[in-house]
Amino acid sequence: METQRHEIGMIGLGVMGRNMLLNMADHGFPVAGYDKDSSKVEALRKESAGNDIHAAANIEDFIGLLRAPRAVMMLVPAGPPVDSVIGDLLPHLEKGDLIIDAGNSYFKDTNLRARNLAGKGIQFLGVGVSGGEEGARHGPSIMPGGPKEAYERVRPLLEAVAAKVNGEACVAYLGPGSAGHFVKTVHNGIEYALMQLLAETYDLMKRGLGLSDDELRDVYDAWNRGELNGYLVEITSRIFNKIDEKTGKRLIDEILDVGKQNGTGMWTSQSAMELQVPIPTIDLAVAMRDMSVLEKQRETAGAIFKRPIPPFTGDRKVFLDQLGHALYAAMIVAYAQGMAVLAAASDKYAYTLDLEAVARIWRGGCIIRAELLEDIRTAYRNQPGLPNLLLAPELSNKVRANQEDLRRVVCAAIEIGLPVPCFMTALGYLDGYRSAWLPANLIQAQRDYFGAHSYERVDVKGTFHTDWTKG
Ligand code: 6PG
Repeated sequence: METQRHEIGMIGLGVMGRNMLLNMADHGFPVAGYDKDSSKVEALRKESAGNDIHAAANIEDFIGLLRAPRAVMMLVPAGPPVDSVIGDLLPHLEKGDLIIDAGNSYFKDTNLRARNLAGKGIQFLGVGVSGGEEGARHGPSIMPGGPKEAYERVRPLLEAVAAKVNGEACVAYLGPGSAGHFVKTVHNGIEYALMQLLAETYDLMKRGLGLSDDELRDVYDAWNRGELNGYLVEITSRIFNKIDEKTGKRLIDEILDVGKQNGTGMWTSQSAMELQVPIPTIDLAVAMRDMSVLEKQRETAGAIFKRPIPPFTGDRKVFLDQLGHALYAAMIVAYAQGMAVLAAASDKYAYTLDLEAVARIWRGGCIIRAELLEDIRTAYRNQPGLPNLLLAPELSNKVRANQEDLRRVVCAAIEIGLPVPCFMTALGYLDGYRSAWLPANLIQAQRDYFGAHSYERVDVKGTFHTDWTKG
């Protein structure tokens, strides 16, 4: 008898949903899946033969498979599809049932949905899941937010399927409301910055130094074996090795230079602006994807602003070492910017985030996992209220040791004329953040001059206005 015994149901049997279900079944959980697309239901049926998975082709049968009170997870594209699934589900659910949105939803949408569903007696968890297909199948990093009691219901399941680092599951209850989806959004913002920084190193080495794909593979591989160790550095090395089946050449050179996006990087920037937290490196990573899309304009502008790339005359080995150090410093700055957004969001939205837990669950399974996260975790463990990672000795020592190379690499890129906006903003952020004095007094004077916005003085408290045109 298959009815009403399955612990959780999955709606959306695309790559992520199907692999998460298989992962759950591997850990001994009886699970059921449903998708509107019958070919996906069929595919799951075939793939899950021998496992405790049941796939239903209509929603009534699917709901009938679930144990009450029901728990339904959905892994569908963010936006209207999430509301449409909730709309389809509601007539079949009862008070006390739980819906889990495990997609990349916008946190404000999650707040709205949680409020609406709470009014109907339905619990709602907004859960970030990172790690792509491989992670979903063999252990993702899981970022749950919502009512604590709802999390406790699915905690054993999430702990079982999550990635493990030194025996610790890469999942932790992050906070109420949209805490989980907010943390996942910022994870992706950091992901954008790390990816763009890596792309800028690629450009400097390819167009600046003239390195071949084999040489590029070896540089990233060597970096991955040192302090830069991390998933994105590792896959970058592998990418340069991949042969295109069609042409027999390296696949990387056959890929159009147009970067796409699904919105999470942009949401990180928008949220940071709203919270008034500076994250210029993440902002520029988003902007460079937007720039990459302007391929026709770039071609035209390239002809107008023609400037040949001068041959590299320095010591290649020395430059590559500097580049690795610069990348390390810039990556720390990118993590610092992302964590600063989380700290501000935690206060403003009452998420009560434990940033040590965030760093801990990002050490495995997710796209931004890297050796560095162990230091980030230690930094928050030693100083839970840390306002910025750059103030923690675990990280500041590393940035100090590499900041001159970051500066040299930015100078070299400027001389050569290659675009490295993420490196530039990482350095600009660092130089701004370490400036006890900034020229914002001039901004205040200008604001007061043209708009009578007033200013504060260094010598006495209060706000002052001057008629700047008099005298
Ligand atoms: C992850 C990824 C995942 C997805 C991104 C890609 O953590 O597993 O971040 O969520 O691949 O949505 O984002 P873009 O399409 O915006 O690059």
